[in-house]
Amino acid sequence: MTTQSFSRIDDLRRALSEARRQGKRIGLVPTMGALHAGHIQLLETARSECDLVVASIFVNPIQFDRHDDLDRYPRPLEKDIEACHKASVDLVFAPSAQEMYGEGHDVLIEPGSVAENLCGRYRSGHFRGVATVVLKLFNVVQPGVAFFGEKDFQQLAVIRHMVAALNVPVEIRPVPTVREPDGLAMSSRNRNLTAAEREAAPVLYHCLCVARDLVNGGERDAAEVKRRALGVMAATPQFRVEYLEVIDPDRIQPLVRIEGRVRVAAAAWLGSTRLIDNVAAARANTEL
Ligand code: PAF
Repeated sequence: MTTQSFSRIDDLRRALSEARRQGKRIGLVPTMGALHAGHIQLLETARSECDLVVASIFVNPIQFDRHDDLDRYPRPLEKDIEACHKASVDLVFAPSAQEMYGEGHDVLIEPGSVAENLCGRYRSGHFRGVATVVLKLFNVVQPGVAFFGEKDFQQLAVIRHMVAALNVPVEIRPVPTVREPDGLAMSSRNRNLTAAEREAAPVLYHCLCVARDLVNGGERDAAEVKRRALGVMAATPQFRVEYLEVIDPDRIQPLVRIEGRVRVAAAAWLGSTRLIDNVAAARANTEL
């Protein structure tokens, strides 16, 4: 089987029309390329659950809040298409910014209260850009199901809320975070870390694990969980912590008192690279 690659919306739609007519289950894996093991996990999950798998590769300019981040975002398109081929993806959609937005695109999706906290507080307009491009990709591909990594937990919540609020007929399928052997969550931005930063990076996950163990052990005070987890992070002075919060996993609102299922999420800088991660936790006797 060969992977077909398209840069034009019309061509992709034409290629999808026959599969749609046959009632095939179409799965979409939206990506910004620079594919790593976390993406491969998304593609393989899609492959096992769908008749036809579409991967989109598009570095979406309107979700970047910093020019330097957009400029240095890796774009190894040939390698990515090859990785899609190996993962038995049927169709790759890799449009240009012109194809996606044309001139003067000014219609944007306002993602609402789930986008207010955590990354939304620090990355102005980021989730508006994500919600807008994801809705456009849903309209272009019209998948039955779309796959998103839990590493971008707030993004997943933004998309779930958008789909529910706007009655978009797409099932949203979360896929667990893939980690390096030392615990660091896979991310396209990890390749920007220096050797010393890469060595320090797993501390972010380890401090989230400390928080998770406290919650699982019965700690109810979110401030105490934060204090203890941040204490672990402080031992690695290279880190500049942006936030560490115990949140309600559906509404993405910080909690004061921990009851039942929560998520602990953090963002921190190592040099010029921003890392995010999160873990599930639950007070004893509550299912994760
Ligand atoms: O998670 C990503 O890579 C991007 O935010 C997404 C969902 C592909 C939208 O550009």
